[in-house]
Amino acid sequence: MKRKITWYFLILILGTAIAVGGACCIITDRYYKSQIREEMLLELSIIEQDPLLREGDYDQLAEKYAPILNIRMTVVEKSGTVLFDTLEEVDGNHAQRPEIVEAFLEGTGFSERKSDNEDSRQYYAAKDIGNDLVLRISKPQQNADRALRNILLAVVGCCILCAAAAVLLSLRFSKKIVGPLQKLKNHVEKNIEAPRMTIIDSAGFDDEILELAVAYNNLADKVNGQMDEIEKLQSMRSDFVANVSHELKTPLTSIRGFIETLRGGAMEKKDVADRFLKIIDIEAVRLQNLINDILVLSKIEKMEEDPTVAEFSLNALAKEVLDMLTPLAKEKNIQMELSASEEIKMTADESKIRQLLVNLVSNAVRYNKEHGSVTVILKRLPEDRVQIVVNDTGIGMNRDDCERIFERFYCVDKGRSQKNGGTGLGLSIVKHIANLYHGDVGVESTPGEGSTFTVTLHV
Ligand SMILES: Nc1ncnc2c1ncn2[C@@H]1O[C@H](COP(=O)(O)OP(=O)(O)OP(=O)(O)O)[C@@H](O)[C@H]1O
Ligand SMILES: [Mg+2]
Repeated sequence: MKRKITWYFLILILGTAIAVGGACCIITDRYYKSQIREEMLLELSIIEQDPLLREGDYDQLAEKYAPILNIRMTVVEKSGTVLFDTLEEVDGNHAQRPEIVEAFLEGTGFSERKSDNEDSRQYYAAKDIGNDLVLRISKPQQNADRALRNILLAVVGCCILCAAAAVLLSLRFSKKIVGPLQKLKNHVEKNIEAPRMTIIDSAGFDDEILELAVAYNNLADKVNGQMDEIEKLQSMRSDFVANVSHELKTPLTSIRGFIETLRGGAMEKKDVADRFLKIIDIEAVRLQNLINDILVLSKIEKMEEDPTVAEFSLNALAKEVLDMLTPLAKEKNIQMELSASEEIKMTADESKIRQLLVNLVSNAVRYNKEHGSVTVILKRLPEDRVQIVVNDTGIGMNRDDCERIFERFYCVDKGRSQKNGGTGLGLSIVKHIANLYHGDVGVESTPGEGSTFTVTLHV
């Protein structure tokens, strides 16, 4: 790349220098020759005015002008015969000399060519002086062209200087472009192997290459972000699988244990057999609940919008849930209360909102104390929002637990939770249902005093 840029530069600048130099030479050459022509025609006019010419005293005339003007002087008849020449010996008929032909035709003539009588190139200017005669003067080109040669030399010199400057410039230029590109390429190659994309240091980069580096760094940030997300999802998935397996294994192990004991003879004692069968039933229900919860969760997780919505009364639904959980509450003498300032109609999937309420209220009862209380408050908020608050006077929890209880399978106290038949999926389901209705859920709790869960839904 570096070499290519240098070559392109060199060819471009040399080409331009040669083209400009060539054009200069051609223009100068033309201008110079037109100047010589004018000058020689003027000299001819001056000589023509001289009385010596009219007297036909060519010797005197030549003696007078040839040395000062550094010219050869010739007088030619129309027939081509040379009547006079400052050269002692002149060969041939001059009728076909271009400047003579032109002078007889147009009054004046000019040409440049190699002389037949002198061994050098000459400029010739001729003028018709009447009486079928042409006066011609000539000058050697060597003297006249010295100036032209100097100009040519200057142009060639310029070309060489330009080429040298071009090489230096192109080296600098290509280093400036190729250097950062090379750095970028090496960086990208290194990143292909690396587990995480690293940011390129763009110090010393300019213009488009700087923009490229910035774009690359943005891409790296995005890719790294996505990788983090993927890793998080992967670890969540494997945690989930491990948790599910564990939660399934515990009741199954217990069921198998009791079956073994029954087979081993416990069947014979009716009261013992009844107790064991009850436990087996409880464990089977726990398994069923767990599988149901997992199915519900995975179904809601996949949904972006709920397709099965209908209008229903939230007040009526909450009352139904409280009635359903009254037997559970009674076990601990817990007081349950529903508070709503107005009738709230909402449009959603009633069964999902029922599940949300059951999960929150059953927690409020389960994690409550003897003679505690549970209050459910329903509120209509502006912008089509509904708020459900479930407040209890239960065991509460500390701040760290509050932040984690919406995670799947998270239980503050595993033993207590399991005793209550819980697996740690209830609040995770609540959160997913709230999110499905573009809402959220939050908790405020004080250990030993109670908790308040607040759900806001857009319906
Ligand atoms: N009202 C509450 N008061 C105190 N702790 C609570 C309350 N609600 C939930 N928790 C704590 O949060 C944990 C997670 O609750 P979540 O409802 O998700 O699971 P669970 O009740 O253990 O089981 P599941 O609801 O799946 O049967 C519970 O184990 C409990 O420790
Ligand atoms: Mg629960």
